[in-house]
Amino acid sequence: MKILLLGKDGQLGWELQRALAPLGELVALGRAGGEGLCGDLSRPQTLAESVRALAPDLIVNAGAHTAVDRAESESALAHTINAEAVAALAAEAAKSGAWLLHYSTDYVFDGSGTRAWREDDPTGPLSVYGRSKLAGEAAIRASGCRHLIFRTSWVYAARGGNFAKTMLRLAAERERLTVIADQVGAPTGAELIADVSAHAIRGALADPARAGTYHLAAGGETSWHGYASFVIDEARRLGVELKVAEIAPIPTTEYPTPARRPLNSRLDTTRLRTAFGLVLPDWRLGVARMLRETLV
Ligand SMILES: NC(=O)c1ccc[n+]([C@@H]2O[C@H](COP(=O)([O-])OP(=O)(O)OC[C@H]3O[C@@H](n4cnc5c(N)ncnc54)[C@H](OP(=O)(O)O)[C@@H]3O)[C@@H](O)[C@H]2O)c1
Repeated sequence: MKILLLGKDGQLGWELQRALAPLGELVALGRAGGEGLCGDLSRPQTLAESVRALAPDLIVNAGAHTAVDRAESESALAHTINAEAVAALAAEAAKSGAWLLHYSTDYVFDGSGTRAWREDDPTGPLSVYGRSKLAGEAAIRASGCRHLIFRTSWVYAARGGNFAKTMLRLAAERERLTVIADQVGAPTGAELIADVSAHAIRGALADPARAGTYHLAAGGETSWHGYASFVIDEARRLGVELKVAEIAPIPTTEYPTPARRPLNSRLDTTRLRTAFGLVLPDWRLGVARMLRETLV
């Protein structure tokens, strides 16, 4: 099986390079492309030509315009990358019969209520990013290509910067931190998403009736405040000295950002766990592991 991975250098793309490697011949491209192929999602037509030239059996798109606040002032670029390029990939997959594995986000929902969102719940993105990701999903479904769309949330990875590392840096510098306590979701490791992706794609290839949209997030739930508190406790347990004495919970309204974010980012993962016979471990397991990897 020939696999084309796009967005290879992001949090998820990096882990997918590892997890997809045993499944077939993997061609992994970042924005700069390689081997005469375009990997730039801001150039959908050139990208489509590259897909045709390579003729993969599976396209995995881990690339995206993920700068949620910047997207508010770069809406055309966000739409090109998150929707038009995805539409181009889906059209190529539909023509050639290739599978497309793509990632979307809890930000397609409006964050109302407290129940975990199911795949068929009405969407209502609050931001340019959320709308562009939703348009990407819609384009895939409209193309008729065989696909898996995994909506995930609060992604972190050991490689690169992430919320946990930012909290640890601030906790070393300051005595008091303020962290949003009314947005609830599940921090989900890129490692877990990549491993589940590899399992699921094998399952979908064996049984194409499993194609469709699924929610993929770690088990349990927390707020950004709960996440930060856990990270700081764990770091101390691992012997890291931190200055912080108080982690104060604040509402979203006290931390204004260009993009609005959903308060309720809970994702119901029942469909994924049932269809593919998988377990999604509690978020604390993955975060604790990432901290041990980066701090010890
Ligand atoms: N991060 C989250 O919290 C989160 C939450 C829910 C869903 N998701 C979804 O999960 C998927 C993976 O996200 P992630 O966390 O791995 O994001 P990430 O670390 O920001 O990686 C995104 C990758 O896309 C690349 N990219 C941006 N513009 C590109 C372009 N024009 N052409 C090619 N590549 C381009 C980036 O390259 P550069 O580094 O060069 O910009 C980066 O390598 C995305 O679909 C995202 O929407 C993420």
